[in-house]
Amino acid sequence: MSAAAVPARGTACSDSLRTRILLAILLWVTLGIVGIWYSATTLFAKHVERSYHDELSVHIEELAGLVRVDAGGELMLDRPLSDPRYLVPLSGFYWQIDVPDRPPMGSASMTRGSLAGQVARDDAIRHRVERGPTGATITYGVVRHVPRVGAVKFLVATDQRILDETVASFTHELTIWLAALAAALVATGFAAVSFGLQPLDRLSRASARLRSGAAARLDGDYPSEVAPLVEDLNAFIDYNRVTVERARVEAGNLAHALRTPLAVITDEAERLLQRAETRESAHSLLDQGQTMVQQIEYHLARARSAAGARGPTTQCRVDEVLPPILSAMRRLHPGKQFEFVALDAAESSWPLDPVDFAELLSILLDNAGKWSRRNIVVELTGNAETLQLRIVDDGPGLAPENTVTAFEIGTRFDPSKPGSGLGLAIAHDIAQAYDLQIALGARSDGRSGLEARITVTLAAAPTA
Ligand SMILES: Nc1ncnc2c1ncn2[C@@H]1O[C@H](COP(=O)(O)OP(=O)(O)O)[C@@H](O)[C@H]1O
Ligand SMILES: [Mg+2]
Repeated sequence: MSAAAVPARGTACSDSLRTRILLAILLWVTLGIVGIWYSATTLFAKHVERSYHDELSVHIEELAGLVRVDAGGELMLDRPLSDPRYLVPLSGFYWQIDVPDRPPMGSASMTRGSLAGQVARDDAIRHRVERGPTGATITYGVVRHVPRVGAVKFLVATDQRILDETVASFTHELTIWLAALAAALVATGFAAVSFGLQPLDRLSRASARLRSGAAARLDGDYPSEVAPLVEDLNAFIDYNRVTVERARVEAGNLAHALRTPLAVITDEAERLLQRAETRESAHSLLDQGQTMVQQIEYHLARARSAAGARGPTTQCRVDEVLPPILSAMRRLHPGKQFEFVALDAAESSWPLDPVDFAELLSILLDNAGKWSRRNIVVELTGNAETLQLRIVDDGPGLAPENTVTAFEIGTRFDPSKPGSGLGLAIAHDIAQAYDLQIALGARSDGRSGLEARITVTLAAAPTA
């Protein structure tokens, strides 16, 4: 039985060029986006802090500049601070002036609580996070000497929450934008990879067509990186075909050259058979001659077969190959009924050379014709994965132990019919060359007769 395994093609993830490039793109985009995100948020937070610092330093200077001492020795402001946020109750913007031995003055916004004010120690403006009326505040403080009052603490504070919120809202928006950018980059990366690898996909489809026999060479136009490879492969395919063709012709020539001397030897041996004293050697000569004829016929048939080339194969259909063979068989075996039943696969293509397919069918039909009592039926069934052709006769059939040995060169179980014992050996050879399964067996309906089955597993369509 022919069951040459087709080598499995590597399809593991890491073997795919596309997967590799996509992984690289993913890594590259992730690194880039995370890098941008980190540096942008850090820079922004620093920038916001610095601008708060500048603003509050100006405010504290403004506050210190607005202070006056009235006639009664009380502290007062010329006018409110220019920033209106110091007027809105609990806005998060506060000022406070601490005067020794008096209750502190506070901004209108500070409707409750007070600023701790430890940060103000001398005449340099300092800042730190302290407790304020509405949570933690960034408090700026300075001590200035006011005439007639003495050392006065000026404090200006902003809720830490406001700064945090500004940074958080920026980070949130930036994250959304960068996520969208990452998605766009990955999508264009995918598109670029698909576009860039298209020639390789085309090449793989062309190679599948070559294997299935739909094409004799790798066809199509390819970019400059791939074109030399395709040209070399095509040159190799052509060279292979020529070489195999020459070898077939030479094998044929050799077989023909041997036939005539072999016929002379056989003739001579038959003459020696007449004489009693040479009869034994004559028998042995005839036997050996017979074996040689068989071998020559067998190898000649093999050399004739296109399967021997096993290069690019072609496709053919049973309903095209079979009818001429059936009419030849009807002439060759008069009185026998040959019938073709295509159950549901008449139009399917078989992946082999039509000449080889015809030879294979002729061998099996000739046997069926020779041994059947009257009826021979050719049945074709199949689906997307397998096709099966059954040649069923109503003859004596074969003993189960002979169904395998029947394929050997020269094996014959019934010498009453003419033949060489080569047919099934050649049929087996052809089947093997095309990865077909061929088997003989009892009829599936249980009646007397032989059923020859040829099965082909169709190659899965190449996935683009
Ligand atoms: N359809 C069949 N019915 C019965 N026996 C068969 C059938 N086909 C083949 N055989 C047996 O298998 C043997 C080998 O067949 P084959 O190789 O075609 O050689 P040949 O037909 O020259 O005898 C035959 O001699 C015959 O004994
Ligand atoms: Mg035969």
